Amino acid sequence: EKGGYPHYMLKEIMEQPRVLFETYTGLASSRELENAAKLLSNAEKIFVTGAGTSYHAGLVFAYYMARIAKRPVIPFISSEYLAYRDMDHSNSVLVAISQSGETIDTLQAVRSFKSSGGRVIAVSNVIGSTIPREADVTVYTRAGPEIGVAATKTFLTQVLALTGMALTLAQYNGSMTQNEYRKAMDTLKNAGHAASAGIDRSIRAVELLASSLRSKGNIYVLGRGLGVALAYEAALKIKEVSYIHAEAYPAGESKHGPIALVEDGFPVIFVGVPPREELHEKLQSNVMEMKARGASTIVVGVSGYDDLKGVDFYIDVGNYDEILAPYAVVPPFQLLAYKLAVMLNRDPDKPRNLAKTVTVE
Ligand code: F6R
Repeated sequence: EKGGYPHYMLKEIMEQPRVLFETYTGLASSRELENAAKLLSNAEKIFVTGAGTSYHAGLVFAYYMARIAKRPVIPFISSEYLAYRDMDHSNSVLVAISQSGETIDTLQAVRSFKSSGGRVIAVSNVIGSTIPREADVTVYTRAGPEIGVAATKTFLTQVLALTGMALTLAQYNGSMTQNEYRKAMDTLKNAGHAASAGIDRSIRAVELLASSLRSKGNIYVLGRGLGVALAYEAALKIKEVSYIHAEAYPAGESKHGPIALVEDGFPVIFVGVPPREELHEKLQSNVMEMKARGASTIVVGVSGYDDLKGVDFYIDVGNYDEILAPYAVVPPFQLLAYKLAVMLNRDPDKPRNLAKTVTVE
């Protein structure tokens, strides 16, 4: 049942090329994105929430909503819903992301918004689960069952569904022409190909990288723009299955504190995403400031970051635009977390202290 793989986590990483295509075709043949975008276009305020990996998908959504649909979105971690409780939400829409559809914190956020007049769009993988049942509209990710405790395929399928939602809204509100929208959706159809290339182009390099990181006590994962959310997700995956302390933050923050920890050999992984014109120069200075403290610098990125100076190890996942980059960039990090766990004799499918679905507050 593990499809010939030693662990569910690896099986689920490797099936991303296929499930992403299923997510896409499922959405293309339903009205879910249109129904969600309709609600969003009438909203005065838009919030997005989730826990853990689902929250990271929410950050990707907030990024695309601002950049593509020109709509600001307020992201919050679902256990922090109390901050927004005593407000009139009659013109608000909450996008609630939950793979299982059962996470109690996310469910509480949904109930709280509904009771103050808000409308809810659920993004979930489980048909008929509690959060979709209580939502006004549900967008299903159609990733199939995920057995490994760590979310892998469900993350990228959430990202795909949320990107589709942002694009559909952008077309409704005129931020994108019909033609631009068609082109972007056609691009999104290739998410599975990007995932497959990301896996193929990194699988050997990740093995090398994992052997050099296995003895480390700390890892920083830094990004800018879209890369921030992907860095958070990479760090979460590394820590939960390998138990190596990994921390992510926006690369520009180094000098505001975290660089104090960096000494000889401290590993810093940079996430390189489009738009290169905007980010390359800034990332270059972030690499240099780390290098100057003796950090061991690694870049996992789309093509075009290979000329960065001061980089010790580079994984080029291929040439992808802003829409496709996540599908190529994320799998190498999932594989890295998996490899580290296996090398350190930790069970990647059942990390200690964790449950797949958290139903107590
Ligand atoms: C991390 C992980 C968790 C879940 C979180 C939310 O790999 O699996 O962080 O993402 O518990 O779960 P759902 O999406 O089911 O609400």
